[in-house]
Amino acid sequence: MEGKKILLGVTGGIAAFKSISVASLLTKLGANVRVAMTESAMKLVSPKNFHEVTKNPVTHDLWKETDLHPHIDLANFAELVLIAPATANFIAKMAHGIADDLLSTTMLALKSNTPVLIAPAMNTRMLEHPATRKNLEILKSRGVKIIEPDSGLLACGDIGRGRLPEPQDLVEFVQNFLRKKTLEGKQILITAGGTRERLDSVRFLGNPSSGKMGFALAEESAARGADVVLLTAPTFLSEPRNEKIKTIRVESALEMHDAAIRIFPNVDAVIMTAAVADFRPSKVFEGKIKKSKDNPDEKIKIELVRNPDILLELGTRKTPNQVLIGFAAEMNDLETYARDKIQRKNLDFIVANDVSKSDAGFAVDTNIATIFFRDDSKIDLPLMEKSELAGKILDQLQKIFEGGNSI
Ligand code: CTP
Repeated sequence: MEGKKILLGVTGGIAAFKSISVASLLTKLGANVRVAMTESAMKLVSPKNFHEVTKNPVTHDLWKETDLHPHIDLANFAELVLIAPATANFIAKMAHGIADDLLSTTMLALKSNTPVLIAPAMNTRMLEHPATRKNLEILKSRGVKIIEPDSGLLACGDIGRGRLPEPQDLVEFVQNFLRKKTLEGKQILITAGGTRERLDSVRFLGNPSSGKMGFALAEESAARGADVVLLTAPTFLSEPRNEKIKTIRVESALEMHDAAIRIFPNVDAVIMTAAVADFRPSKVFEGKIKKSKDNPDEKIKIELVRNPDILLELGTRKTPNQVLIGFAAEMNDLETYARDKIQRKNLDFIVANDVSKSDAGFAVDTNIATIFFRDDSKIDLPLMEKSELAGKILDQLQKIFEGGNSI
């Protein structure tokens, strides 16, 4: 983002006030932000706000006597254009090449390789009107990136799709867009969450895995250009809104096993973060297990049988071009167990963490991991957010794809 010249176009949607924070966040990240507003946007927010946060002049007038070719100057300046919010009217003008004010004229004057991102924001009915849908399709076909609107309470009081995403989310979208696409063309299967093994119709054996590590890896892989299948056991996390991530939800180890085996031949790498139950009840009671009314000392026995080891099975099917990455949560003898798993499961590397530490492992946002490789080398990583750890893991995966030494 440092030094990146971004043209932020603000059109007359009620969410225009959020764009002030967008301009501010982009500027704080080091971008050189210039803002162009439409007349309608000027009725909702003041150019002074944008001037204050970007320290750059804010323009809206195509006919100012002192500026000879303001649309050409802006178009030459822009290395990336973000229109947020983008109204139905402005989207229609872009789709049809109408140039009747500074911002719309600038859009026509952009260099052909300048990326354009737009964040539509409007009432749900306007968004879903065939005219708007068609206009968005036209823009998509020209390579414009559409930042999908959020759902929720709209300014008009309706509830539905059409909210401008929060400024932080818009800025993250821009950041991801600008990232180098080092995993472009790669298909990656990532498993996440903790499997549930049914006892009866209302109960299950489970584990506290939150799915955060797998979801972070899916987001990071997609940001680096990979196509991701996120195969997840139940979690409270919401499905990633990213067209490069296909989410498949399963419940039990057997369901995850079947899906993973089916998908495996089509992927270049598997990252197996899921906490898969090693055992399941040998029989699932139909209905609900009822306690007896007159025997407080009653005991019931549940027999457990082994689940397949998914990673082990993938390891036997792996072709030389496929990469397998495992996770290991251990309470003791981390290195011994981790190295044993690399060999037994035919892994390229394993990410191991000591779950006896409070900042590592299940259901927390951070992790302290060591990556062990086949060649006896290892990388000790300090305490970090799971999103940052995802990046470190993918750096190693990329090195393997590039055929280099994985350390
Ligand atoms: N794994 C799997 N299928 C299973 C169990 C585990 O694919 N039935 C995967 C996990 O997703 C993880 C790795 O294998 O990537 C963890 O291996 P392992 O430590 O063998 O799982 P545990 O059951 O915790 O091992 P152990 O019984 O040795 O404690």
